[in-house]
Amino acid sequence: MRTTAVIVAAGSGTRFGRPKHRALLANIELWQRSVDAFVAAGTDQVVVVGDVPGGLPGGPRRRDSVAIGLAAVAPDTEWVLIHDAARPLVTAEVIARVVERSMVGDVDGVIPAVPVADTIKRVDGESVLETVDRSTLVSVQTPQAFRLSVLRDAHAADQLDATDDAAMVERLGGTVVQVMGDPMNFKITVPEDLVLADAHLRAAADRE
Ligand code: CTP
Ligand code: MG
Repeated sequence: MRTTAVIVAAGSGTRFGRPKHRALLANIELWQRSVDAFVAAGTDQVVVVGDVPGGLPGGPRRRDSVAIGLAAVAPDTEWVLIHDAARPLVTAEVIARVVERSMVGDVDGVIPAVPVADTIKRVDGESVLETVDRSTLVSVQTPQAFRLSVLRDAHAADQLDATDDAAMVERLGGTVVQVMGDPMNFKITVPEDLVLADAHLRAAADRE
């Protein structure tokens, strides 16, 4: 089965304070860490979208950047893995779990997810309305794997925004399943996240 990774590394990094993908994490740029992880996992082709060496120019919204990447995917690709460059601590294990579940062949999409740790409440401004049952909720990560044809159909079907790719496939009625993600595969969103990622890598190096 031929798999291609599309790593999205565009966007303005509003919450980070600047575009974040060339920020250094233990001497390696964020986007490069994701590329290395997919190469190590044996992905056949890696397409990068964003203002990084070898990257395709990004689009205004995340889904537009994904569409630009999809257009560059080799036509004989069966499964495409969409990954946020902002998740530099992705491991070969998480990639393998997603790919192995895809290979079963019975679904359109596979996403890595982790349980929600905090209590979740519905609010309206200052008012707390209710406590939501978190046992049926998960936090969703990338890489998310899709049959290439299904994700292309989902992009063609509408122009609505989406915070992840699976949401677009779900809208089309596609079958999406979850596999275990990794708490350390968090997204670098604010500067403090980079400090946490750096601390994680230092601790891992000390254990070696
Ligand atoms: N992304 C992208 N193109 C966009 C917007 C986002 O490729 N137009 C990518 C980012 O590079 C990132 C992932 O989508 O890897 C998740 O986006 P996010 O963390 O929201 O990054 P930004 O949109 O840059 O940050 P912010 O929302 O704080 O502006
Ligand atoms: Mg964003």
